[in-house]
Amino acid sequence: MSGLETIAKFGCLSDENRWNANRYDFPWLAELDEHDREIVKLLDCLRDGEYSGQASTTQFYDMLINAKKNGYPEELVADWSPLFSYMYTIVYEEMRHGIVLGLLYHYVTTGKTDYIAQVDVRDFGKRYIWCYEERRYWDKYSYILTHLFSEVINTELYRDVVNRVHHPELKAALANIRNDEARHIAAWTALIKDMINADPRHKKAALASLERGLLYHNAMVHETYFEGLNKMLPLFLSNQGDKLDPIRRITRQKYRILGELFGDDNPYSEKEVQDMHLDYLRTASGHTRAKFSEDSPTNIEFVA
Ligand SMILES: [Fe+2]
Ligand SMILES: [Fe+2]
Repeated sequence: MSGLETIAKFGCLSDENRWNANRYDFPWLAELDEHDREIVKLLDCLRDGEYSGQASTTQFYDMLINAKKNGYPEELVADWSPLFSYMYTIVYEEMRHGIVLGLLYHYVTTGKTDYIAQVDVRDFGKRYIWCYEERRYWDKYSYILTHLFSEVINTELYRDVVNRVHHPELKAALANIRNDEARHIAAWTALIKDMINADPRHKKAALASLERGLLYHNAMVHETYFEGLNKMLPLFLSNQGDKLDPIRRITRQKYRILGELFGDDNPYSEKEVQDMHLDYLRTASGHTRAKFSEDSPTNIEFVA
């Protein structure tokens, strides 16, 4: 195997499934009912999260460049090449998601459709690309794993939002995003598996960094992540009397992926993955802002 087959495959899948953004002109916006508008109003932090794909990619490149400078072996740097390549797809597709959500939010909060024209690019760069300096929670292995496992959350969140909204065009727009996120799960899984199998040193390092990779969301790189987490929790559908259902769906997927990546070396049971998640949610509950801290064992310091 050349090592490029997986990236070629998922590059083609992205091409084949590329949805038409219709030049970000959505004539159906005025038809949204009150229920749909209320849901869209909860999605401003999710818009920020989508755009922060720009920051997490920048931080990822920054990490690898620094690792190379600081003596990380060249053959191991080279094994990351397909992941470098896939980051381009992520940056582009997450940007498309951000524009769709930004446009929807701008319309329901202002009644205007001039969203893209009124974005200040300097503010954009500051908020969504260069926001990572004070939120370096990861090493390179936990970071790439975080990119993978966060897509599980993204997919499940969009699945529930799609189920909730009424307007068929809004449903379709959000379903396009959901499908991209699901493809990102498959691509990251396959690409990380290739890397892990390329050299036992990768597997050892990935296992050592697994906990944070499994639990932290790569969108924690931007300012409003925890505000969004608390705001959007109610959007996860749950069966009456079974509030754990969304967590169970997420846990099941993450556990399946752990098995796929690490086989018998996966250190966590499904129950442990679920308990870790619940702990994380409890800690994050009620907070809106966080930054990196050396003083905390989680490296998260809540500042609001
Ligand atoms: Fe996305
Ligand atoms: Fe994604």
